[in-house]
Amino acid sequence: MRRPCDHFIKKAPEAFNECLRHLESPTKSCVAGRGSMKSSPPPRRRNLRTRLFVFSVVAFAIVLYGEDFTCILGTPFRRADDPPPQQQEQGGAPRVYDEPSRPHYREEDCPYIQPQLTCQAHGRPDAGYQHWRWQPHRCSLPRFDAALMLEKLRGKRMMFVGDSLNRGQFVSMVCLLHRVIPEHAKSMESFDSLMVFTAKDYNATIEFYWAPFLVESNSDDAVVHRIKERIVRPGSIMKHARHWKGADIVVFNTYLWWMAGHKMKILRGPLGGDGTKNLTEMVTEDAYRLALRRMLKWVEKNMDPRRTRVFFTSMSPSHHSSKEWGGDPRGNCYNETTPIEDATYWGTSASKSMMQVIGDVFEATGVPITLLNITQLSEYRRDAHTQIYKKQWSPLTPEQLANPTSYADCIHWCLPGLQDTWNELLYAKLFFP
Ligand SMILES: *[C@@H]1O[C@H](CO)[C@@H](O)[C@H](O)[C@H]1NC(C)=O
Ligand SMILES: *[C@@H]1O[C@H](CO)[C@@H](O)[C@H](O)[C@H]1NC(C)=O
Ligand SMILES: *[C@@H]1O[C@H](CO)[C@@H](O)[C@H](O)[C@H]1NC(C)=O
Ligand SMILES: *[C@@H]1O[C@H](CO)[C@@H](O)[C@H](O)[C@H]1NC(C)=O
Repeated sequence: MRRPCDHFIKKAPEAFNECLRHLESPTKSCVAGRGSMKSSPPPRRRNLRTRLFVFSVVAFAIVLYGEDFTCILGTPFRRADDPPPQQQEQGGAPRVYDEPSRPHYREEDCPYIQPQLTCQAHGRPDAGYQHWRWQPHRCSLPRFDAALMLEKLRGKRMMFVGDSLNRGQFVSMVCLLHRVIPEHAKSMESFDSLMVFTAKDYNATIEFYWAPFLVESNSDDAVVHRIKERIVRPGSIMKHARHWKGADIVVFNTYLWWMAGHKMKILRGPLGGDGTKNLTEMVTEDAYRLALRRMLKWVEKNMDPRRTRVFFTSMSPSHHSSKEWGGDPRGNCYNETTPIEDATYWGTSASKSMMQVIGDVFEATGVPITLLNITQLSEYRRDAHTQIYKKQWSPLTPEQLANPTSYADCIHWCLPGLQDTWNELLYAKLFFP
């Protein structure tokens, strides 16, 4: 059963690390007590640029150790209006319905959210999906402190590289931060595949670069990329990667675009041109492995592990079939308003064999890369997709309108919402390598 709250008194730092390792995990438990954590030393940091930064790190450590990593004596997951905790302890997923402290920002207050993700503006009737907080068993994520995060980013380039799901995480990060930046001191610009948010007073940028496979592909155009037959060049990354050079923090993702079938079309020669394409087929997992390795090779050559951080966000699950969670056999995420309760739930959209490739490749490399394993915690969130409440690419037909399930988007996530949680994880791992 549960270990007592003073479990880690004697060895707080390791305990804390243990806790961090399991932030994404619903099954491992860890304990961090208020009293025990306060006495441990704050994390050491080199290259402290300003006194303010020192101060903020200390302040952060106090907040982190003292307040947020409190022992959760009650149930680790509960909803304000739900029955007594004991009932949910078995098998429930660790999250808390937190009306007062979530969301971190209001949809209408963040002008950077694309109309494909503004669910309230597009008529979503419920807002419960905004109020869930991720609550690992018996320890809490540190509170996201936008001012501190900006201080950490001073003089730096933070870059998200990947597909539209990663763009959602990028926008979430911008929304989390922009509130503390005055209007005149920030800007958002787009250049082809690149979006750049600038916090002028901090000389900091947060950027997104479109590269859905990370490596070169025929889907690389930031706007026109809806191509039926996808072709990748898993060994070729420089076309994109030259735009990442000089970034201090990079957050990669790539997954969904690979899932077009069992095999992937691979091109040896250059893309485009005369139709004498040298195409071969490769099992998707093998092609994915090549691409991840290529990315790591680039990181090894181009990023200094002493000054930079590299993250990889694991696959974001989709919810296309409600029978997977015991619902209507013809349904999908449409009309879902609550998360899945089963802590072990894992749908078919997140391929375990692809996850295995991620694990294998990262384990085999000497390149320091931090995995943000958001898959399991996102699996529960059948309620958090944009459904039909988004700007549509093309006008809907009468048949579609008569059957909303047919055009519900069960891939992307409303903002504010689940992707803010991904960034809370990123934040926790950024401060504690
Ligand atoms: C701003 O940051 C960039 C790196 O992102 C650096 O090259 C430049 O010198 C910085 N400028 C100032 C005024 O600190
Ligand atoms: C196609 O690629 C394969 C593997 O790299 C190579 O052996 C072959 O010579 C190429 N064929 C052409 C026509 O370029
Ligand atoms: C969705 O919910 C609405 C309102 O509760 C209901 O009228 C409708 O039948 C539901 N649609 C589906 C496909 O479940
Ligand atoms: C990510 O988390 C899931 C579930 O907690 C686990 O099964 C998977 O192995 C993890 N992936 C990696 C690469 O560690």
